[in-house]
This record gives sequence, structure tokens and C-alpha cells, in this order.
Amino acid sequence: MSPEVRKAAEILRAGGLVAFPTETVYGLGADASSEKAVARLYAVKRRPLEHPVIVHLHSLERALAWARDVPGEAKVLAERFWPGPLTLILKRSERAGDFVTGGQDTVGLRVPSHPLAQALLREFGGGIAAPSANRFGHVSPTTAAHVREDLGRDVDLVLEGGASEVGIESTIVDLSTGAAVLLRPGSISRKDIEELVAVKDEKSAVRHSGGLERHYAPRTPARLVPAHALDKEISSGKSVAVLAFSRPDERVEFWLRMPREPQAYARRLYAALRELDAAGCERILVEAPPESDEWSAVRDRLRRACEPA
Ligand code: TXA
Ligand code: MG
Repeated sequence: MSPEVRKAAEILRAGGLVAFPTETVYGLGADASSEKAVARLYAVKRRPLEHPVIVHLHSLERALAWARDVPGEAKVLAERFWPGPLTLILKRSERAGDFVTGGQDTVGLRVPSHPLAQALLREFGGGIAAPSANRFGHVSPTTAAHVREDLGRDVDLVLEGGASEVGIESTIVDLSTGAAVLLRPGSISRKDIEELVAVKDEKSAVRHSGGLERHYAPRTPARLVPAHALDKEISSGKSVAVLAFSRPDERVEFWLRMPREPQAYARRLYAALRELDAAGCERILVEAPPESDEWSAVRDRLRRACEPA
């Protein structure tokens, strides 16, 4: 066990905050059993209290102890995708206090696969409440440096675990009402889920902050534009930073070229949004990705990062 991980677990036990890497994005962790620790987490994150937070556990067995009346579908998905980038919303057990569920009768549970997250969860033993380690509404962090830039000294320790492999937040499936409802698309796609359980179409009524329209947003106004309209937007005379699949246009000072493969795009996305923001232009232009299912998680994050067209 690394001394760093032991120290992180001690900080959590003492009610402190530890940012740690996961395969999706970095999380800002607090002891999920401590109302005081979670209150501090919300304060640092500047997150409204009624927004529930995901509880992270070391194993499926430990995770399910936080839930009750767990349907067979949840076990099937957990066995297939945990540890990994999937969050399940289930009816809560008495372990899950109002302060992690936003006062709802459900709890969000996830078993992350990143080796450092696993090591921390094993050493700590209990549940770690962890939203993405950014201020509310900002772009999620995919490196330890991103966390420090956003949260600075408000976090007691940042565990360094390299760049997150997946790059966007976990897929969230709500199984608290029986049939599976996809609340947040992620690298585990709707098709992946549907291969194992039936997915209901309608929107669930549960609150989830990922469902807010503007989220994951850079500070510079960003606009999503179809490929064919890029040229016109660039000609508008405004100073722009561009995120696109195509080759740089020489009139544009800051241009980031993105991969044409959705998983690689997702991995790069949040760091790219930060770089575009830092370019200090009047506007960010993002070339819209394809409409196909495999791009749905990326489209979802871009839609929230950008102003409505
Ligand atoms: O990949 C991830 O899920 C990352 C890493 C750190 O694990 N975490 C993350 O947390 O994205 P956060 O708080 O930024 O987003 C969690 C989402 C929010 O939209 C929250 O409202 C929803 O999960 N959520 C958590 N518990 C819930 C519940 N009981 N019912 C409905 N939604 C819930
Ligand atoms: Mg977040």
C-alpha cells in the first residue's frame, strides 16, 4: 500500500476531502457516512444541497449493502460492468443518509476500476461520496492538474493518477422504479445496456444535475455548429477558438483537431475545452459530431457545454 493512499484514507476518516483519479474523470471524495464531511464537499463544490451525489465502493458486495430491493437487472449490469464506468440508481438502504441522496429514497452507486481508486476504496473500507472534482457547472477534470486549477487549496490532497482513460462521466442507469432508464449517456452505450436488460424510453422523474441544461461549461461562450456552417461562423470577424475534425483554417489562431473515433474524442474532450477556454477568444466554435448512437455521450456533453444554436 502506497503511503500516499494510506494518507488519503486517513484524511477521509478525519472528515477531509481527497481528490482521486477514476477511469472517467477525477472525483472529489468525502466519507459518505459522515454528514459533516459531505457538507464540506458540497460547500467546496458549491453544489446545491438537493443534488444527490454518487457513492463509490470497492466491490459489488459492498455497493449493494447501500441499496434495498435490488432488482435482478441491476445485478446483471453490475456483474458485467463493475468495476467500471457505470452508475446505478437504486432504492437506498438505511446506510445512505439524506445528505448523499438529496433527500430522495434512491442512491447512486458506482464501483470504479482505476487502480488508485480501487486502492483508496480498499484502504478506506467504506463508501466515498464523490462528484466530479470541479466547481459546480464547470468542466470536469481529467487530470490532477485540472483539479488543482479549479479547487486549489480547498482540497486536502490530490492523488496523482495520470489522465483519465474514458474522459467523460459514467453512464447512469436508474433501476429504482423497476425498468431501466438511461439518465446519462457515457462510454457504456445504450446498446451495451440493451444487450443485457430492457431499457425504458421515457425520461425518469428523478433529479440529477447532469440533467441541467447548461453544465460542463467553459467560461467562453461556446457554440455547436454543423460542419457546413463553420466557414460562415469563422468569417464573422469575431476572434474564435475552434474544435473540429477538419484541418485548421489559416484565418483561425487557435484550432484543435479532434479524433474521428468517439472514445478517443471523449478522452480528449474536457482537456480540449479547457485549452480552448484559455485561448482567450471571444467565442468557441465546436464542429458538431455525427448523429449516430456511438456519439450520443459526446453529443450530450457538447450540448451542455454550448449555448443553444
Ligand atoms: O464518472 C462519474 O460518475 C464521476 C466520477 C467521479 O465517478 N462522478 C460524477 O459525479 O460525475 P457528479 O456528481 O458530477 O454527477 C453525478 C450525477 C449527477 O447528475 C447526480 O445528480 C446523479 O449522478 N445522481 C447521483 N445520485 C443520484 C440519485 N440518487 N438519483 C438520481 N441521480 C443521482
Ligand atoms: Mg459533475
